[in-house]
Amino acid sequence: MMKRLFVTGVPVTGNDFAGRKQELRAIRHFLQNGQSVVVIAPRRFGKTSLILTILQELQKSGSYVADVDLFTILNKKRLAEAIVEKTLENKKIESIVSRIKKGVSQVVKNIEMKQVIEDYQLVLKFAEPHVSLDDLLEAALDFPQKFAEKEKRDIYFFYDEFGDVAKLDGDDLIKLMRGKFQRHSNVCYIFAGSHESLMNELFTKRKSAFYKFARIIYLEEIASPDFADYIRKRFKQEGIGMSDEAIKGIIGKTRCHPYYTQLLCGFIHYIIAGKKKKVEQGDIEDGYEEAFISEKTYLEKLWEELTVGQLETLFRITSSESLYSNETRTNVGRSVKSLLFKGIIKRTGRGKYGIIDPFFEEFLRRNR
Ligand SMILES: Nc1ncnc2c1ncn2[C@@H]1O[C@H](COP(=O)(O)OP(=O)(O)OP(=O)(O)O)[C@@H](O)[C@H]1O
Ligand SMILES: [Mg+2]
Repeated sequence: MMKRLFVTGVPVTGNDFAGRKQELRAIRHFLQNGQSVVVIAPRRFGKTSLILTILQELQKSGSYVADVDLFTILNKKRLAEAIVEKTLENKKIESIVSRIKKGVSQVVKNIEMKQVIEDYQLVLKFAEPHVSLDDLLEAALDFPQKFAEKEKRDIYFFYDEFGDVAKLDGDDLIKLMRGKFQRHSNVCYIFAGSHESLMNELFTKRKSAFYKFARIIYLEEIASPDFADYIRKRFKQEGIGMSDEAIKGIIGKTRCHPYYTQLLCGFIHYIIAGKKKKVEQGDIEDGYEEAFISEKTYLEKLWEELTVGQLETLFRITSSESLYSNETRTNVGRSVKSLLFKGIIKRTGRGKYGIIDPFFEEFLRRNR
């Protein structure tokens, strides 16, 4: 295995996973008691990492697990396929649906696959040219339950980026899912999503389809003592010393945001690897500049998606100016509302707001 240090861009588990003890414990507890769970947090806060960590544990202890990332699913047919494929992977059967689509005769030559086809006739439907998509999707949504019953083992099913379900055809699909999921006594569901307002819309509004279906877990930044321990340990493994001040310097810049903290540590390590045995303040500054540049495209894109009014409001927040200084009250109110909705800012007190992404905050400061 390749040595990986301060990984970003992919979900992290095992040695790369820091803190989150309480969240792990809470989610584990709910799931083990058959309570479905939804994890809501801004982008890059570690939702996927957290759930994959739990799924790995569950799998190790003999449970069936499956995960479908709705971000990557572009239509209902693909959704149906993914649900069935991922469920069947628990029997060490991979890509059976896509193989069947290429030709049933090849697949049945494999004894294990043949058995799966006999047990689960649904997989053959994916090869039929005139099958009704609605029927197929309905059957696929129920498939994890059928599978769990037949195999006599419960299954934990993870829908990542669940907010994206709206793009597949909104309300009807969501209602269909809810109607089915609540009858699945052998499936426990885990949902995650970044678009907080959308997720709240789905799970917390009295009128919404998933109201009270899942226990809600809001993720914050990683607790600073936990992140400090992790950073110290990882640098030490590389033979690099890290003082408390240095750690404070890092966390001060990233505010324990999971992604940016890993990113910054990665750049600091890159800068000093093979040259020094100790991280100093200057290395943190240098690492920060490089990390910042590496995020430029992402930050520019965030910026471009905002209106002038929203940017003006953000500038005021970054410089702690009063939001409502003049007659523009209603406009500011509107901007605040949309920025909250987009998950760019969060409320930190009465009439007070903070920018969630620490690098975007710096980007705003530098580009005012
Ligand atoms: N518990 C953790 N310990 C250390 N680093 C973490 C942790 N969780 C997340 N990270 C860092 O943040 C990055 C993003 O994590 P992850 O993909 O799980 O977040 P996400 O909330 O699912 O993001 P997205 O909104 O892009 O789907 C990881 O690549 C890793 O660098
Ligand atoms: Mg994710």
